[in-house]
Amino acid sequence: MSDKSPVVIDLKFERESVVAGLKNAFPGREVIDMALAENVGRDLSGIAYAVVWKPDPALFSRMPDLKVIFSGGAGVDHILRAYELPDVPIVRFVDRSLTDRMSEWVVLQCLIHLRRSLAYARQQKSREWRDLDPQPEACDVTVGVMGLGVLGQDAVRKLKVMGFDVVGWSRSMKVIEGIETFDQAGLDTFLARTDILVGLLPLTEETRGIYNASLFARLRQGGALEKPVFVNAGRGGSQVEADIVAALEEGVLGAASLDVFEKEPLEPESPLWGFENVIVTPHVAASSDVRALFRHAERQMIRLEEGTSLQHVVDRVAGY
Ligand SMILES: NC(=O)c1ccc[n+]([C@@H]2O[C@H](COP(=O)([O-])OP(=O)(O)OC[C@H]3O[C@@H](n4cnc5c(N)ncnc54)[C@H](OP(=O)(O)O)[C@@H]3O)[C@@H](O)[C@H]2O)c1
Repeated sequence: MSDKSPVVIDLKFERESVVAGLKNAFPGREVIDMALAENVGRDLSGIAYAVVWKPDPALFSRMPDLKVIFSGGAGVDHILRAYELPDVPIVRFVDRSLTDRMSEWVVLQCLIHLRRSLAYARQQKSREWRDLDPQPEACDVTVGVMGLGVLGQDAVRKLKVMGFDVVGWSRSMKVIEGIETFDQAGLDTFLARTDILVGLLPLTEETRGIYNASLFARLRQGGALEKPVFVNAGRGGSQVEADIVAALEEGVLGAASLDVFEKEPLEPESPLWGFENVIVTPHVAASSDVRALFRHAERQMIRLEEGTSLQHVVDRVAGY
């Protein structure tokens, strides 16, 4: 029998992707998949690891020997808020596949708004052949990214490659070549420069409701896109949807792209579905690739078992 600790899997992801991801995952380690009926009442003592996304509320109390919790996603608000947690490290998911996906989504949204793709799609429907002027270049538009962590830093670099003027904002000051950066004290200056605001912040007590009417009112008006655009793929709890709707109706915002919502799934009654200048995607900007998640968790388990430190450990006080 292997001397590697078994791993408990409790992932409320699309089931097929978990089953496929588990094939050949965690070599030499027993996998206890909590979605299987045979594991429902199982004794989970002696097990050191759990890989979770929205797990059963009783899971952690059933694991007295738990050493590490692995979050199934980059965000950990789903665990920190809803559970009584044992005092063990929480490792979040950081992986190239997830980072690339997020940057693809962010760059795509910025280009859609820059190149007026929504308006051209409407024209195509009515078979209308007409130039829309003016047509600014990417270098005329400043994209301001809130959150310069793993995802934000990759996004700013790729936006820069596309030619955008890029600025960034984070809790602590960052130095990123070619990008002007601001810390919390520089928020007003950062907003006043920004034509497209991109949200890549985690949801914490400090960032809850941060994208609100007061913040939208401080974005640059009269820039190359005329009105500012709001793009959010961080967490829906950071945005005040009633304020987004009002800002769109009043012309404070010219458009938006939203991947995350205060309540998910977004309710059919939400007015956000109905705006012709708003793109809604169902929290898919950077879905976790389950195989990559299991490879990442296994790497971290091996690090721990070999006596090296874990990577990507959450700061529970900061909340991310
Ligand atoms: N929509 C999706 O599909 C999807 C997929 C994956 C992740 N996400 C979301 O994306 C978030 C970011 O992921 P990540 O991997 O980039 O996280 P990360 O590496 O932890 O970076 C978080 C960034 O936000 C900044 N920040 C946190 N609190 C702040 C505050 N109060 N004021 C100013 N800046 C603050 C941090 O500042 P410091 O640098 O100073 O610490 C850091 O730059 C995740 O937490 C998750 O919610 C969404």
